Amino acid sequence: MALSRITGLGYYVPDNVITNNDLTKWMETSDEWIQERTGIRERRYFEYGKDTNYSMAAAASRQALEHAGLTPGDIDVIVYATITPDYFFPGSAFLMQRELGMDGKPVIDIREQCSGFVYALSIADQFIKSGMYKTALVVGSEIQSSWIDKSTAGRNTAVIFGDGAGAAVLTATEDPQHCIISTHLHADGRYAEELFVREPGSSRPGRTITKEMIEEGGFNVYMNGNAVFKHAIVRFGEVIREALEKNGLEAGDIDLLVPHQANIRISDYVRQQLGLSESQVVNNIQRFGNTTAASVPIALAEAFENGRLHDGNLICLAAFGSGFTWASALIRW
Ligand code: UT7
Repeated sequence: MALSRITGLGYYVPDNVITNNDLTKWMETSDEWIQERTGIRERRYFEYGKDTNYSMAAAASRQALEHAGLTPGDIDVIVYATITPDYFFPGSAFLMQRELGMDGKPVIDIREQCSGFVYALSIADQFIKSGMYKTALVVGSEIQSSWIDKSTAGRNTAVIFGDGAGAAVLTATEDPQHCIISTHLHADGRYAEELFVREPGSSRPGRTITKEMIEEGGFNVYMNGNAVFKHAIVRFGEVIREALEKNGLEAGDIDLLVPHQANIRISDYVRQQLGLSESQVVNNIQRFGNTTAASVPIALAEAFENGRLHDGNLICLAAFGSGFTWASALIRW
């Protein structure tokens, strides 16, 4: 049976740096509060006219393709995760496919929120394992800054999120020492409304978008931060242990953990539970905030750029987010 290997990584973040102090111009908050509760110092916001969801994804993908030594024409399928697409439909994967000149190649748009990239990676891995495709481009890209409510009313979510994109190229291999070992996916819809954006929903009377919906805040992110936090710290640990147990491995075997960048306190808690050192966990939330589906591939690509991925390393990706969803992937680098 074929296996899949990550042969290319890339990321793109907009140039526009928004510090915590910049946020104080729009809402009542402070650098101290944000750093203490989340670890975030700054994040990036897209520049209108320069960046789009799909252009950021294309930039990350070009880098990943170059790293893999491939061209867009070599890719068999695109799996693209985002909850902030350029259009309501079709998805941004179509726009990126056009941008990269990959006409005719299949594209799959998925959501799955903060777990989006790990889900997308799993989908691509299954396609390659089944023999249906030999190469895949897996992308996470988000523009959160145009959605979030930057007034004081939205401060519990506005301070967290940022924009960016990350991408990975997957290639078929027969080598079990350099491959995606396994992926583990979970969801629990009972908590769908603990972190969600209600509008523009289709199951509404009359027109889908009304002035009242906007005034009632239905387009804003609602988050029960405390509930999300409590579930996250449990599910991260669970899904990482599940991946290890499935493969007869232990936490001590992990060389590098690349968690979704939700909150530095969540990462620290998970790190301590697993008995890992600070140097074994990738944290870049300080500089990029929470970029939802883009956070894992950005962190992984940055870890590669910084020389933190070594031949034969055991890398663990893990994510938790709205839905609720949670997921992990074990990779032999
Ligand atoms: O990506 C996956 C999904 N997201 C997450 O995993 C995030 C999980 N949740 C969290 O990280 C935390 O819940 C937050 C960082 C979002 C919030 O931290 P918290 O300690 O749970 O704060 P809170 O919402 O309980 O609010 C505490 C206080 C409140 O004031 P009072 O009622 O105690 O007077 C808030 O109004 O902090 C206030 N507050 C703020 N103050 C300054 C909330 N947001 C802010 C803010 N600046 N940005």
